[in-house]
This record gives sequence, structure tokens and C-alpha cells, in this order.
Amino acid sequence: MSTVVTLSGSPSARSRSDGLLQRASHLLQSFGVTVKPFSLSDFPADALVYAHFDHPAIQRLQKTIAEADGLIVSTPVYKSAYSGSLKLLLDLLPERALSHHAVLPLATGGSPAHMLAVDYALQPVLTSLKARHILGGIYATDKALSWGEDGELIIAEDISNRLNAAVSRFIAHLPNPGVVQLDPHELNAQIRIGGISV
Ligand SMILES: Cc1cc2nc3c(=O)[nH]c(=O)nc-3n(C[C@H](O)[C@H](O)[C@H](O)COP(=O)(O)O)c2cc1C
Repeated sequence: MSTVVTLSGSPSARSRSDGLLQRASHLLQSFGVTVKPFSLSDFPADALVYAHFDHPAIQRLQKTIAEADGLIVSTPVYKSAYSGSLKLLLDLLPERALSHHAVLPLATGGSPAHMLAVDYALQPVLTSLKARHILGGIYATDKALSWGEDGELIIAEDISNRLNAAVSRFIAHLPNPGVVQLDPHELNAQIRIGGISV
């Protein structure tokens, strides 16, 4: 059985990029993947700003990632790149932290002009952490994401379909997919047949 760490890189309490990550997380769980969630709020600002590698919260993240098979990281686009707070956290991971991991990046931004921010900004950092396989990420603009009355993120259909396909590709790239190895068509078919809500 595979284990995946999710890392939410937005400093906002109500976060669109985190909403995308939650959707991906529910999808993983519906296929039997164990998800271990982390977000910036799990880490004291001091530990991030002053690079406290030995802080228990940082150590816990390092250990959980070391024991996992994959990572899904989400971020808002800030100033044409990923969030600075996420960088503070990624800087505290060991050099080969992702060498056994499949990685799926998710990003949201106000403008379609910054859809390549993951490729030119975040991907090099993931590569420097020796990510075993970085899957093509999902970028959604704020226009495609709205908040429902119940506080749930409503995701436009095209983004939702792309996210489903990306998660299924991600599952297929996990080093230890176990019972959850599915191709994108099969996963989409199962979602339709099973009426799975994610
Ligand atoms: C400080 C700041 C900088 C931003 N810079 C950009 C930017 O350069 N390009 C862009 O497309 N959106 C930019 N945005 C918009 C956010 O990326 C967008 O609203 C995103 O969906 C927020 O994600 P979140 O809700 O997960 O924090 C910026 C927002 C903030 C607060």
C-alpha cells in the first residue's frame, strides 16, 4: 500500500490551492492510498524563518516524507513564482529528500499568464531534492475556482477532469502502487460508475 504526503504551501487560511490539494487527497484515499497531510500552519514561523532543521515539527515532516512513496505539493503563485513560505519549508528538507518519490505539483494563480510558474520556478527545486519522477502539474486560475455556500471549493469541470487524470497518472508512478495502479481512463470510468464524490 502506498503512502503519499500532501504539502499545502499557501499562507492563506481559506486557500484555493489547498482546495485543489484536498480534492486530490480525497481521490487518492478513495483508491486506498494513505495520505499524510501537512500545511504551513503545522510549522512555527520561527522554525521556518530561522531554519531550525532540528525543530520537532520539521523532523516529523522529514521522517514522514522519508517513509512515503510520493508527494503532492500545492502552492499559490506569488510574484510569478511559488509562495515564499513554501520555499522556507522546502529549504529544510534534506538534499535527497525526494529521491524515491513521485511528485505532483498543483498551483493556482490569478492570471493564466503565470501557468508556467511551476515549470520554471518550483520544478527546479523539486529536481534539486532529487525527485524520482515529477509529473506534469495542474495550474488553475481563480476564475476556474469558486467558493460554494458550504465553504467547499467548486472546481470548473475542465480543471476537475485534468486533476483526476493527473492523480491517476501520479498513482501509476508511485513506487509501491499495490492495489491502486490504474490508468487514467480506467480511473475516470470508475469515478463515473461508482459515483465517487471527490
Ligand atoms: C502576494 C500575492 C502575490 C500574487 N502574485 C500573483 C502573480 O504573480 N501571478 C498570479 O497569477 N497571481 C498572483 N496572485 C494571486 C494568487 O496566486 C491567487 O489568488 C491564488 O489562487 C491564491 O491561492 P491560495 O488561495 O491558495 O492562497 C498573488 C496573490 C498574492 C496575495
